[in-house]
Amino acid sequence: MPAFPLPRLPRIVYGGDYNPEQWEPSVWAEDAHLMREAGVNLVSVGIFSWAMLEPRPGRYEFGWLDRVLDTLAEAGVSVCLANATASPPPWLAKKYPRSCAVARDGGVMFPGSRQHYSPFSADYRRCALALTERLAARYARHPALAAWHVNNEYSCHQQECHSDAATRAFRGWLRKKYRTLDALNEAWTTAFWSQRYGAWDEIWTPRRAPYHNNPAQELDYARFWDDGCLDLYLAERAVLKRHTPDVPVTTNFMWPFKPLNYRRWAQHCDFIALDTYPDPHGAPPEVAAFGHDLMRSLRPELPFVVMEQATTQVNWRPVNGLKRPGQMRALSLQAVARGADGVMFFQWRQSQGGAEKFHSAMVPHAGAYAGSRVWREVTGLGAELAQLTPVAGSGVKARAAIVFDWENWWALELPSKPARIDYAAVVADFHRLCFRRNLTVDFVTPDADLSAYEVVFAPALYLLRAADAMNLSDYARAGGKLVVSYFSGIVDEHERVALGGYPAHLREALGLVVEEWDGLAPGATRRVKLPGGKTTQAVEFAEVVHLEGAKATATFAEDFYAGKPAATRHRFGAGETFYLATRFDDAALARLLDGVVPRGAQAPAGVEISERREGRRTLTFVLNHTRAAVTVPLPRAAAGATDLLTGRKAGRSVKLAAFDCAVFAAR
Ligand code: GLA
Ligand code: GLA
Repeated sequence: MPAFPLPRLPRIVYGGDYNPEQWEPSVWAEDAHLMREAGVNLVSVGIFSWAMLEPRPGRYEFGWLDRVLDTLAEAGVSVCLANATASPPPWLAKKYPRSCAVARDGGVMFPGSRQHYSPFSADYRRCALALTERLAARYARHPALAAWHVNNEYSCHQQECHSDAATRAFRGWLRKKYRTLDALNEAWTTAFWSQRYGAWDEIWTPRRAPYHNNPAQELDYARFWDDGCLDLYLAERAVLKRHTPDVPVTTNFMWPFKPLNYRRWAQHCDFIALDTYPDPHGAPPEVAAFGHDLMRSLRPELPFVVMEQATTQVNWRPVNGLKRPGQMRALSLQAVARGADGVMFFQWRQSQGGAEKFHSAMVPHAGAYAGSRVWREVTGLGAELAQLTPVAGSGVKARAAIVFDWENWWALELPSKPARIDYAAVVADFHRLCFRRNLTVDFVTPDADLSAYEVVFAPALYLLRAADAMNLSDYARAGGKLVVSYFSGIVDEHERVALGGYPAHLREALGLVVEEWDGLAPGATRRVKLPGGKTTQAVEFAEVVHLEGAKATATFAEDFYAGKPAATRHRFGAGETFYLATRFDDAALARLLDGVVPRGAQAPAGVEISERREGRRTLTFVLNHTRAAVTVPLPRAAAGATDLLTGRKAGRSVKLAAFDCAVFAAR
């Protein structure tokens, strides 16, 4: 159960990024007034304010921020105060040219946009920490301060740095990890292509090279980058914690986001904050749900909030569709349904100039007038969230789990593989299967305690340590249902293949051996015979499997491996294991795993039913993500209960207009 409420934070947060430095002070009073009208109780201030707070090196100007925070405090709006280090001012790049990040090909990132700094620059770091120190000291006791927002979306635009400082840091990191060059040479298989290192300073970060870089080096670089960014966050956080040990500190995460292992980051956050921007025209509702389930799973005992979303459209896709009437509300309530204790936006007031002036906001260019659809929806949602305080702190119980591992993501998508496998997409196949059954899933690491789950999926778990394979096997042996998909259990943590027949450490549990595989180009398919005689076209990858105790539940129907297993099932100890030797479409996957994957509440297509639980109380969210009206039969916990949004009592079903939602509270 989340330990909510955290001291100082509102029970259900509502608000957005607030960038008052883009406006004349005369606008600030109107902002505070409108925030009250909208039910805003928390705003993130100062994220991109460094150049305004320290206009010249070492010359700080806090007067304007004092006024902003005082105005907000008077209006009863709390502040998630940024330490303002996300975008250093131009003077920093001029004074310390080496503070800028360097790309793989040696190109330098210049100021003029944002996030051009290198996390390995000592100058950037010193200046960032000095600013943080000043801010923390000045506002530690300010009545508006509710939380700290460190930096912003670390690594969002900058996912590598190859500066001299980064290279030195990489060498130091490797030395600490391997201690001896012999150990590094062994781990990196440097016997290959004459890469053997005889001195630490012969090693560079993986830069522009004629052909594939060493994959073990690439994988270590990915770990090093993650570590370096985390180290910067920890340094910034430490300054804030020294001044204000009781104020919660966080930084905003993104989804999908590969460069940072948020599992590790979450260990150092006081609450989890997600920025979520599903394409309102392209993305079905399970896309956002994936992010919420992952964020909730990072630290289930902590609260999580949506820190940024768009009221209607973003500016950064090639084409930016808007959210239709009601869609923003439905997506917001979806976040709450899946564990979020509040939603916020980027941003409060739509910018007049700059690169994001066509990104939607809570107060649009036309202003907050009564006829504005955006403003009406923003104030409406604020009022509704205030009705949902009983939800705050309640948990979400998942019956299924999906193994999701960042290190596997990094390794699997390195080049020179049999096929291009998009890890997040393959994992999403299984999440979608559960989503469409209204079956809530947690995301777990391969070494997690799995005993609470009825079924565990391990899709494309290419990098798998022997001990983790044992953990998965033990789960099945003890009575669990384990579903593994192709190209799993192939390499160890150094990208070295586990020899003796794939998937070495999972062979016994799965009751089979994979002899070889066929990479399938985009558009290529292999016909597969499903149980009951129907056929389907599988894609991406086709493995030649030999059974060692497992039974085939589907078989390939073409190519030289026709008749060989495409899916299997195996009794193992007190449990069962399932293997998928190719990529199936949704219908085939549902068919193959029917009876294996439990079902949640029944609902029409496009309608989501999710539950949050607090003690014996169940809160049932019914969310219509479609553009049509629907009638939804209610699960037992919701039938006859009161809708917290309308105050109406439900019968056995509920009628919902396009994008409409209901939240039933039952004892
Ligand atoms: C070339 C090279 C070999 C090897 C093969 C792989 O022929 O000479 O060293 O890399 O490609 O196809
Ligand atoms: C990110 C950033 C914000 C803003 C939005 C736009 O989430 O944190 O500053 O740029 O994207 O969608």
